[in-house]
Amino acid sequence: MEDTEKFASLQGSSRESVQQFENRKQDHIRLALDDSNEALGLGGFDRLQLRHEALPELDFAEIEIKSEALGLSVATPLMVSSMTAGHPDGVDLNRRLALACEERGWLMGVGSQRRQLTDGEAATEWQTIRRQAPRVRLLGNLGLSQLIRTPLTQVQRLVDSLEATAMIIHTNPLQECLQPEGTPQFKGGIAALTELAAHLPVPVILKETGCGFSSATLSRLNELGVAAVDVSGFGGTHWGRIEGGRSSEGSPKSLAAQAFRNWGISTVDSLAAALSASTHFEVWASGGVRSGLDVAKALAMGAQVVGLAKPILVAALAGEAELRLTMERFEFELKTAMFCTGCSTVAELSNKGIWAWVNK
Ligand SMILES: Cc1cc2nc3c(=O)[nH]c(=O)nc-3n(C[C@H](O)[C@H](O)[C@H](O)COP(=O)(O)O)c2cc1C
Repeated sequence: MEDTEKFASLQGSSRESVQQFENRKQDHIRLALDDSNEALGLGGFDRLQLRHEALPELDFAEIEIKSEALGLSVATPLMVSSMTAGHPDGVDLNRRLALACEERGWLMGVGSQRRQLTDGEAATEWQTIRRQAPRVRLLGNLGLSQLIRTPLTQVQRLVDSLEATAMIIHTNPLQECLQPEGTPQFKGGIAALTELAAHLPVPVILKETGCGFSSATLSRLNELGVAAVDVSGFGGTHWGRIEGGRSSEGSPKSLAAQAFRNWGISTVDSLAAALSASTHFEVWASGGVRSGLDVAKALAMGAQVVGLAKPILVAALAGEAELRLTMERFEFELKTAMFCTGCSTVAELSNKGIWAWVNK
């Protein structure tokens, strides 16, 4: 069977209408903005402190936040985490994000490109955005439960449509269980990831979506060939809570969402586990990162890139000026943490051993 034919038949049973897809994406944005769907304060950043340096011998103006990720030189170690793609309201949001990321040198993860798998038109969004932001570094995105059913040629098309720097595969077992139209089928996931990492010409990144990774899971990832793992731990946007809010009240899924409202491994615990497990992949941090000081703490622990979703969503919806202000704020707070720890570069911040657990 031709690759595309096989793909169409594999996707057939789970194909959903464009309308259903758009409704789900809009629900996600609406519910992500509700603070009760965040596990705020539980990401563990308060359990870490950086060592204050009273005599930094530095000029703040010379603090340098350029860094490296996936073997590339990047202007900042910051990333807009994957959020939105493939629905009409998303186009404006993504254009705004892409322009701001290009201007400030942040990486930009795009939201799940699942819709592009069955709707070729959805890719045109990116052609327009690419023309306007030709230098932004975009990271593609697809769920593991879709990857298992998607041939490599189709994933390659997703990468090509963005001219992506890398491809993110997200794993989200809790979300797939609780989502009214979820597909909790992850059998074959490790084989699919290994195959993708071996054949896709761009780096493959594995990320969670807010529930983090355990040491046991991380210890299985070195052999997969993924270039980076973004821990996306518990402590920020919580997809169990969000999907619970989409289920009809009193239904098993909505009740389960209550029981699982604090499910997940905190961002800092996931990060610590990833850093000790990793021999072959970069470790990226996200999940509940809410200040440039959180960014500095994650970098000091050894994260290569630090991502934010909700704070950027809120700012981008408020307009271009607010988005730039928020990005500037994160950079300024990161530089302030660097100045006050006597670190003039990100490399120094990561290598100086200036962090400690306050209360593990
Ligand atoms: C509105 C919204 C949509 C999201 N969609 C995706 C997605 O399509 N793919 C993905 O990997 N993660 C998605 N995420 C998860 C984020 O990338 C991130 O892992 C998670 O929200 C934790 O980060 P935060 O606490 O900074 O929000 C989404 C997050 C938000 C807020």
